[in-house]
Amino acid sequence: MRSKVTVVGAGNVGATTAQRIYERGYADVVLVDVVEDMPQGKALDLLESGPVLGTDAQIIGANDYEPTADSDVVVITAGIARRPGMSRDDLLLTNMRIMQSVTEQVVKYSPDCIIVVVSNPLDAMVQLAQQVSGFPKERVVGMAGILDTARFRTFLAQELNVSVTNVSAYVLGGHGDTMVPLIKATTVGGVPVSELIEADRLEEIVQRTRDGGAEIVALLKTGSAYYAPSAASAQMVEAILLDRKEILPCAAMLDGEYGISGLYVGVPVKLGANGIEEIIEVELTEAESTALQASADAVQELVDVMAESGK
Ligand code: NAI
Ligand code: 2OP
Repeated sequence: MRSKVTVVGAGNVGATTAQRIYERGYADVVLVDVVEDMPQGKALDLLESGPVLGTDAQIIGANDYEPTADSDVVVITAGIARRPGMSRDDLLLTNMRIMQSVTEQVVKYSPDCIIVVVSNPLDAMVQLAQQVSGFPKERVVGMAGILDTARFRTFLAQELNVSVTNVSAYVLGGHGDTMVPLIKATTVGGVPVSELIEADRLEEIVQRTRDGGAEIVALLKTGSAYYAPSAASAQMVEAILLDRKEILPCAAMLDGEYGISGLYVGVPVKLGANGIEEIIEVELTEAESTALQASADAVQELVDVMAESGK
């Protein structure tokens, strides 16, 4: 029997994530959105690609949650996206209301699922989804670190003219201006990147990574990135459904790891059938540790704004 995945939000990230999962063939997909008929249209279009691609998986669209019942994984991408001049944090209060109502519906119909949150501002949204769901922290995880790390690896591979597969890196922290690329742990073909790229140039690449989302927004003008974000989201779904126990940078609720408690922050985790099966503590330099704490403080500020607005 195939697994079942629901993707909430059938916009750019959601529809592309649904496409990537559907095309892999091992899960049936339900695509949900508030816009009438749109998720049904996208799902039917995708279904009609099945004979060409050779997938027998099923995909349907819906405007309600009944068809999502008993999903194994639910990916939440519902919300508004950035436009030029907007930061991820500008989305906070609107997406907070959307996340609250979506999570309530998800939990009602799929009480045993694992939730993967994508909507921004990511770290605050995943924190909210965990609170609203009442799920154990292992079953609610946020997507951002894989995307940020992929951007960093892309720029490093371009700089050194090597395959992206030879670049090993981690970007931790919140999905925002305070994200923390780990330079010491970044290697190219096993060689520390600091031996291959001058410090000043490396700093420019780190800054481009931090600005990676804004760079795409400035080019697209009507929305934000979705091809790389959907690839990252699908990788997380696959790690869970296929119990790959893959170590990936994801937003996870920390409980003392890295000296942080009660807050979702991007760290390496082992992702498998039970969701977050382990939080991996890599050794940080003092500067990286300070930067991670600053990143956590920035997440805490958003969490506080949400709490204030709910009073
Ligand atoms: P989009 O505007 O293309 O799609 C969002 C969809 O959500 C729309 O179709 C809208 O109708 C739907 N929606 C709104 N309220 C809803 C509700 N209550 N229930 C169900 N659906 C609802 O936006 P896009 O580009 O797909 O981005 C989605 C979210 O993901 C944004 O918040 C964006 O900032 C975030 N994002 C996060 C990334 C990350 O690394 N964590 C990367 C890329 C995007
Ligand atoms: C990105 O990093 C907008 O968070 C989204 O592309």
